[in-house]
Amino acid sequence: MYPRSFADGDGDGTGDLAGVRARLPYLAALGVDAVWFTPWYASPLADGGYDVADYRAIDPRFGTLEDAEALIRDALALGIRTIVDVVPNHVSVQHRWFQEALAAGPGSPERARFWFRPGKGPGGDTPPTRWVSDFSGGTWTRTTNPDGTPGEWYLHLFSPEQPDLNWDHPDVRREHEEILRFWFDRGAAGIRIDSAALLVKDPALPEVPATPGPGEHPHVDRDELHDIYRSWRAIASSYPDERILVGEVWLPDVERFTRFLRPDEMHTAFNFDFMARPWDAKELRESIRTTLEVHAPVGATPTWVLSNHDVTRPVTRYGRADSSFAFARKRFGTPTDLARGTRRARAAALLVGALPGAMYVYQGDELGLPEVEDLPRELIEDPMHFRSGGVDPGRDGCRVPLPWTRTGVSLGFGPDDGAAPWLPQPADWGERSVEAQSEDPASMLTLYRELLRVRREQAALAEGDLQWLDLGDDVVAFRRGSRLACVVNLGGGAVAAPAGATALLASGPLTPDGGVPTDTAAWFRL
Ligand code: GLC
Repeated sequence: MYPRSFADGDGDGTGDLAGVRARLPYLAALGVDAVWFTPWYASPLADGGYDVADYRAIDPRFGTLEDAEALIRDALALGIRTIVDVVPNHVSVQHRWFQEALAAGPGSPERARFWFRPGKGPGGDTPPTRWVSDFSGGTWTRTTNPDGTPGEWYLHLFSPEQPDLNWDHPDVRREHEEILRFWFDRGAAGIRIDSAALLVKDPALPEVPATPGPGEHPHVDRDELHDIYRSWRAIASSYPDERILVGEVWLPDVERFTRFLRPDEMHTAFNFDFMARPWDAKELRESIRTTLEVHAPVGATPTWVLSNHDVTRPVTRYGRADSSFAFARKRFGTPTDLARGTRRARAAALLVGALPGAMYVYQGDELGLPEVEDLPRELIEDPMHFRSGGVDPGRDGCRVPLPWTRTGVSLGFGPDDGAAPWLPQPADWGERSVEAQSEDPASMLTLYRELLRVRREQAALAEGDLQWLDLGDDVVAFRRGSRLACVVNLGGGAVAAPAGATALLASGPLTPDGGVPTDTAAWFRL
């Protein structure tokens, strides 16, 4: 959940914890087991809260620490566990440690918690490395000395407002172990680990080799990371009801990826390989097969993700000619066919719901919200947008506040006498609201509610092994256990249902003889 855009309890136009608490019955009725909250900590929101000023305080725009504790308790009373986001790679420039480091000056112990370095060349005006930021541009920003002269540079893999911590420093390690305990002690059932493969840097700060071998990149996937996660796992396991670690690990090499999931490291990590694949049966089968293959030996739970707060909404992405996802390819004006994208997103929901492992739903995907691609440029806050010189539309298009009711100034996002939402909602979103969709048996919301209900009821979906069914190249089809089958048709003509099968749930109308049409998925009882 992106709390800033979920529900606004106090009417200031920004979502908050009071809003979430009031909407917990909605989440319970939807059928979720747990909610992962993107950062709710005190933050200048230079990167939507991924620039944390204080990990032990809630940002006043979102509420108070007492609100968070009450929210965790109330959610649990409804059977919903809470996963908090921990952002260990960097802090906000407003964080006490960074402010102390700036004040203390070069060579100080305060600066040793970060990566401060003199510049290269005459006057030190060339940054220490030519590393490229995930948010475009360089990764170093120069400081100014108290006397006004140019000073040292500091490292930030993301925006300049997010200085990277030095994970070779014992304070950094100890502090994060305490942050974990702080939130576990308040009832968090798990933590989502932000940018989990980036924390450790090669202290020699070399340039990035043209083709780095495994573990050779100076700031991605270093072998030293695993010790950190082993110590975190030990903390998670020290609780009588074990707490879980979910990693944000973007790595192309699946073997390196699964190292993070060894039994004494993280419990699970987001499956970005699957998320980024196009709507193509061969591609999806391949991703599912590899995912299951690499998770089995380490005994970790696979995850299935269609989107999150960083990527293009599924109904928009699946309606594009190129339906794969890559940050580098996001551009304004890429056409999409929303009707087709919606059909596919419905089918994709049934696919992920039928796979063995954990399914993640990003808020608003259960409403079939499209990416908002025409936000007024001056309202876009995402640094990915303006750091790219305005070329990358950024990620705010999937962060537009949710529509709850058909009418009202913010479509029920906040109180009717409240401020306008922090990003404007498209005019036609009243018809996509929770209110409108709750009454409609054919809506995306009804489909998600049904699929999560059936998923819970059918033991085969929790326990049954997966066996592939060969229904043609353009079909993803498999059995779970002996009694249940999922058929997803990505091809041209309809596909016949497995012999003797009855449909339990379908993402769209089946043919009169029970076949599965194009861009449709169905679950069958065998
Ligand atoms: C992760 C978050 C993203 C954030 C980045 C830097 O990728 O999901 O939203 O901008 O880390 O913290």
